[in-house]
Amino acid sequence: MDKQTIDKQILLLPGPTQIPPQVALAMAQPAINHRGPEFKALLKEVTAGLKEVFQTRSEVVILTASGTGGMEAAVTNFISPGEKALVVSIGNFGERFAKICKTFGVDVEVMSFPYGQAADPQAVAERLQADTKHEIKAVLVQHNETSTGVLNDIEAISRARGNHPALLIVDCISGLVAADFQTDNWNVDVAIAGSQKAFMLPPGLSMLAVNERAWQVAERCQNRSFYLNLLAAREFLHNKGSTPYTPAVAIFFGLKESLRLLQEETLPASIARHALMRDMVRAGVRALGLELLAADEVASPAVTAVMVPEGMKPADIRKPLLEKFGIVVAGGQSKVKDKIFRIGHLGYVSFAELFAALAALEAVLVDAGMAVEPGAGVAAAREVLQAGLNKQGR
Ligand SMILES: Cc1ncc(COP(=O)(O)O)c(C=O)c1O
Repeated sequence: MDKQTIDKQILLLPGPTQIPPQVALAMAQPAINHRGPEFKALLKEVTAGLKEVFQTRSEVVILTASGTGGMEAAVTNFISPGEKALVVSIGNFGERFAKICKTFGVDVEVMSFPYGQAADPQAVAERLQADTKHEIKAVLVQHNETSTGVLNDIEAISRARGNHPALLIVDCISGLVAADFQTDNWNVDVAIAGSQKAFMLPPGLSMLAVNERAWQVAERCQNRSFYLNLLAAREFLHNKGSTPYTPAVAIFFGLKESLRLLQEETLPASIARHALMRDMVRAGVRALGLELLAADEVASPAVTAVMVPEGMKPADIRKPLLEKFGIVVAGGQSKVKDKIFRIGHLGYVSFAELFAALAALEAVLVDAGMAVEPGAGVAAAREVLQAGLNKQGR
């Protein structure tokens, strides 16, 4: 078999993710006036739904922008030029936070951890304790680092601040809904999400939960963004029930439906499902003789970074997976670009699709000349799935 003869793909990316048919249908509704009563009701409903997902009572604002737009808004609305920020980086998206800070004149200090590792909360605590003059105004960090498949312990990083007044700004773009994220309980000041991840929507919306302390900072901040102005977004939300500029209305329709689906599944069940998918993929890939970038203790429930076998390039695996089987996985980024490929198990993914991916991966490895025990990947994943379902009493 050289090429798949039907045009069907299983998207196993860590975003954009697959879209449930109900969500796709919701987005096909006729257009409405974004300044009219229907949109006002829609905005109110999805904003309330998002608060539940963020586990917050604070204000949530929605921007028509990709996740990076949300990251940029978090920098420009809360950190003034010349102010110091500590970026805690464990991969490509941490580096992006640092680049955005530099672009907007923030005095950025980067605390980097090796690719594949989580941030050490103790190191953050020590750095902030040393900052006796409270020069650091914000700590920026990823919840789930998509480039390496590592989940940070945000609760511990938040606690590491002690009495230091720096804002905690967290990019939970690929982690929210896939892993627990308790904005209020963990004292996260600003949390940033994106539509094309576990929300099962197309790219285009970024949602930010902002607490009162952070809003006060925003009032004083020399904001340098016109479009990504969060105070304007809040004012329109409160006073007009709309957005300052034309929103991506169709994605808002989809968001209403995806929030309904999430409510039906429940947040704890979604988090448990993602953890189970992570464990299935990790067991399956290991049984095929491949190594993983991240240790089990810090492994992401959204995406698994797999080391490419010696002598191969990521494309040697990704290309046949796509062309022969229609399985779409991601490549590496930044420092591990040529060393890994990434299997997303985020959002609207079924256990059966993971079995399919592991079976296809086995075929690709065998074609490449690797000795693999037939069916080993699927068998290992099935065992993990069965044990997980038994534990859940299913
Ligand atoms: C953790 C994280 N942060 C930020 C982004 C950037 O989001 P976008 O590509 O929507 O701009 C992504 C996207 O992959 C991400 O996974």
